[in-house]
Amino acid sequence: MKILVVGSGGREHAIAWRLANDETKHEIYCAPGNAGTDGIAVNVPIGAEDIAGIAKWARENNPNLVVVGPEAPLVKGLVDELASLGIPAFGPVAAGAKMEGSKRFAKEIMAAANVPTGMAEVYDDAAKAKAALDKFGLPVVIKADGLAAGKGVVVAETKEQAETAIDDMLVANKFGPAGAEVLIEEFLDGEECSILAMTDGETVVLLPSSQDHKRVFDGDKGPNTGGMGAYSPAPVVEDAMLPYIKDRIVRPVVEELKKRGVTYRGILYAGLMVTPEGGKMAKSGSRINVVEFNARFGDPETETVLPRLGGDFATALLNTATGRLKESDIVVKSECAATVIIASAGYPGSYEKGKKITGLEKAAALPGIVFHCGTKKNDAGETLTSGGRVLSATGLGTTMREAVDNAYALVAAVDFEGAFHRKDIAHRAFDRETKR
Ligand code: AMP
Ligand code: GLY
Repeated sequence: MKILVVGSGGREHAIAWRLANDETKHEIYCAPGNAGTDGIAVNVPIGAEDIAGIAKWARENNPNLVVVGPEAPLVKGLVDELASLGIPAFGPVAAGAKMEGSKRFAKEIMAAANVPTGMAEVYDDAAKAKAALDKFGLPVVIKADGLAAGKGVVVAETKEQAETAIDDMLVANKFGPAGAEVLIEEFLDGEECSILAMTDGETVVLLPSSQDHKRVFDGDKGPNTGGMGAYSPAPVVEDAMLPYIKDRIVRPVVEELKKRGVTYRGILYAGLMVTPEGGKMAKSGSRINVVEFNARFGDPETETVLPRLGGDFATALLNTATGRLKESDIVVKSECAATVIIASAGYPGSYEKGKKITGLEKAAALPGIVFHCGTKKNDAGETLTSGGRVLSATGLGTTMREAVDNAYALVAAVDFEGAFHRKDIAHRAFDRETKR
């Protein structure tokens, strides 16, 4: 197959890498890709959000499949555009991507489909929003409605923090139009996990569970990031919970969208909160609640989940894009996977770019994979940093301990000025083992 992967992060490198590992060989392109996709794919210099540019490339090159990585081009309607050209694309149409693009819309769909989630109210007026706070108690969660690159959520411990967040969004317009409406949401107690569900609008297949590490520092301290590491499977997701997640959370959303004329194809990523026995129960009465939906593969979850998938990946994606997912057999390997992000000093705040990365060849000789997140090559062929999250080291193993050790061996092999990483990836899985 001739396949175009849209995006330039660790997620897209992992998608391209997994496609390149199919038994059948494919012709793979990435737009724009990075230094890691260069070599397994042909990088084409078109930005992931350049809808017209990608459509033009697709018209001229006629790929069998386009796989869209990030949310922005999905929300902007890249898949709709490709559909009008008759080119199959993995990812939802814009009306489906709204599940990620508007938290208000996602809540509306969940309410209509009776999907358990935090109680929430929507406001566009700061005074009214503040007056509503008392109803929610503390902590309380304030969210910008639209896409804010993961920064539009404040978990407020005090009323003052909640009021500041409301003012930032509704008065100071810190997030522009994305913050023109805010959600005030019930705080959900528990442990988070990510479920990537593959769906063609009919069939739903849950990919292996994973858990992201969103805070920048060890012990889940410091500001939120795009994700500092992940591991799969996540033991917080017990096998007995999977039918509930599939039939009470994912499928009802897909069906509600269908009722509204939207056939959702691609990944519906459910960010879930699992309340422990004895934890504070949510108003929904369910132990498992939706924190958010995303319309795409997670990053870094993809780097940890895709190496665990066997079978013909390209066909699974194409079948999803064309409404034939039930013909695909998604094979999950029993191996565990752990992914450690190596980031630039300063991330998630400001950071420098253009640092030379060393040790990639050494790492390539070790078991596991170093995915590139924010890298590029200079004219001399050297690999330089070009983002906040730079590399994504994935180790595999028969136990989580072995997977984590393999990931950290990769981390030890590579370096660049200012590199840092979390040292406690998968700590919740190990905490559970200790408690048992
Ligand atoms: P989101 O962008 O909606 O995923 O929110 C970012 C992060 O904020 C989540 O990963 C959670 O850690 C936290 N969060 C969001 N909503 C809630 C909630 N209702 N209760 C507790 N934590 C939340
Ligand atoms: N890792 C969180 C996300 O992809 O949204």
